[in-house]
Amino acid sequence: MQVIIFDNAQHVAENAAEWVAELINKKSKPVIGLATGSTPISLYQELVNKHKAGQLSFSNTTSFNLDEYLGIDEKNEQSYRHFMNHNLFDHVDIDKSNTFLPTCNQGENPRKQGLAYEDKISQAGGVDLQILGIGANGHIGFNEPTSSLASRTRIKTLTQQTLEDNSRLFSENEFQPTLAVTMGIATILDARYVLLMATGKNKAKSVNNMITGPLSAACPASALQLHENTIVLLDQEAASELADKEYYIWANKQNQKIHQEFGLYHNY
Ligand code: GLP
Repeated sequence: MQVIIFDNAQHVAENAAEWVAELINKKSKPVIGLATGSTPISLYQELVNKHKAGQLSFSNTTSFNLDEYLGIDEKNEQSYRHFMNHNLFDHVDIDKSNTFLPTCNQGENPRKQGLAYEDKISQAGGVDLQILGIGANGHIGFNEPTSSLASRTRIKTLTQQTLEDNSRLFSENEFQPTLAVTMGIATILDARYVLLMATGKNKAKSVNNMITGPLSAACPASALQLHENTIVLLDQEAASELADKEYYIWANKQNQKIHQEFGLYHNY
C-alpha cells in the first residue's frame, strides 16, 4: 500500500482528483469505480471544478458505484443514485447511460442481479480506478465486518454501528434502509488501482487496522493488503493512530520522484 498523509481533508480531495484526472486523460475508455459517503464529496467538487475549467471531460468515462440502498426508489433523495447525480453527474459531461449502480428491485433475484452487475463491469473492461472511503468499523462499500474476503456483488445487512453512523443523514421520521446491494470484497480487489480516502479522527482506528492490522474479515478494508496497487490518502487526523507514520512520510518523498518521472500510474 502506498500511504500518503496530507495536512488536511482539502488536500486529500485535491490529490484524489489528480489521480482521477490522470486516469481519465490517460485512457481512451476509462472505467471508474465510485463511492458515496461524506468523504468523497470534496473530491467530486474538485472534479466538477476541473471540468468547468475545461481541464477534464467525462464523455468517454463509464462508472460503477460500489453500493446502493435497498427498499428506496432511485428518485428518493437518500438513494445513492440521487447522491451521485447531485454531487457529480449533473455537473459534468458524463453520459448518464454509462453510469451504473448495483440495484435489486422487488421481485428480482438478488444473486442474478449481483452477477449481472459483475458481468457489466467485465464487459466494460473492468474497473481501472476504484474510489473508496472506509467505515469507522473498517467496512468498504457496505462489506461489513465478517464479510467474506471472496465476496461478490450481493445484498448485505448493515450493522448497528453503520446505521448509527449514517443516521445523521436521515431526518427523524425518515425511513433508513437496513439493507444494501454492494460490490463484494473480491469485486473491489479486481480493480487495477484502488484509491482509498479517509479523513477525520473517527477513521483513525480502522485506518491503522487496515494498513498494519492482521488480514481479517473483522476489518474488511484489510483485504486491500492483498491488492497490488492501493493508494491510501489520509489527513492528519485519520493518520493519527498509524504505526510507523514517519516511514510513510519518508517513503512518499521518494515516491514523488517516481511519480514525477513516470506518472502516477507507472505500475499500470
Ligand atoms: C458508507 C458507504 C461507504 C463509505 C462509508 C464511510 O456507509 N457505504 O462506501 O465509505 O460508509 O462514509 P463517510 O465517508 O460518510 O464517513
